[in-house]
Amino acid sequence: MVFYFTATGNSLYVAKHLDSRQISIPQEMKKPERVYKADKIGIVCPLFEFEMPDLVKEFIRSSTFETDYFYIVVTYGMHHGGVAERTKAFVEGLGKRVDYINTIIMFDNAIIVFDMEDQRKLDPEKKVDEHIAALKADIDACRHLVQPAPKEETDFYQGYVSMIQKMGPMYSFPLYGVTDDCIGCGICSRVCPKGCISIENGRPVYDYTDCINCTSCAHACPRLAIKLICVKEPNENARYRNPNIELKEIMEANSQL
Ligand SMILES: Cc1cc2nc3c(=O)[nH]c(=O)nc-3n(C[C@H](O)[C@H](O)[C@H](O)COP(=O)(O)O)c2cc1C
Repeated sequence: MVFYFTATGNSLYVAKHLDSRQISIPQEMKKPERVYKADKIGIVCPLFEFEMPDLVKEFIRSSTFETDYFYIVVTYGMHHGGVAERTKAFVEGLGKRVDYINTIIMFDNAIIVFDMEDQRKLDPEKKVDEHIAALKADIDACRHLVQPAPKEETDFYQGYVSMIQKMGPMYSFPLYGVTDDCIGCGICSRVCPKGCISIENGRPVYDYTDCINCTSCAHACPRLAIKLICVKEPNENARYRNPNIELKEIMEANSQL
């Protein structure tokens, strides 16, 4: 079995190639207790600011995995910043074992820093399917590996940490504004993995208490009506969903309604 969290479909696309049984982490988190038993158990999730999302960390912390082989694959868009080694330290710090941690470069959906149209041009160079095949071969062979962090990646990560220390967090609340193009369809509330959005009088209303900044709501809005207001976006009219994944799949994976 493979557990996944996805905001825009990349991690689900990878999960589908790694195991025939994909299970949504936001749905599993609704259960009061989580004990899983299988020969092989995996986790696939996006990289958020050089870390696994808190939702995924909480899932790992609060679940029991009875397996001979536990693997983690993190999808990212530009720089993984040596996340595999930090993830190993995190998992082992919980007293759990992990056999394989790797990353895969995919489309970068970070609207806070990138124009999605520019990212579309970079996409073919990322050779996603080739890299998925290599990950699958590793996992099928139960290979043991923690992706080593090249110096340029740890330097990049350190640069980011220093910048945050100096300038403060990249995101501030409230994150989003909703324009008059909103038709109250409620898709935003269904793709939110933390149930932060309710529809009141035909408009989304955010409660940011549990928001994890995943931006799934902004990407999924069919009217492009959800914009970041905490920063000026490079292109507030360009959004992304993995072309192999349907909106319905993201709603089913994430909805807390
Ligand atoms: C809040 C946020 C933070 C991100 N941080 C990083 C990052 O530190 N490094 C990186 O290369 N990509 C980063 N990304 C890009 C995603 O990790 C990448 O596009 C991922 O494949 C998305 O997966 P998904 O479609 O399953 O949600 C970030 C995206 C978001 C929304």
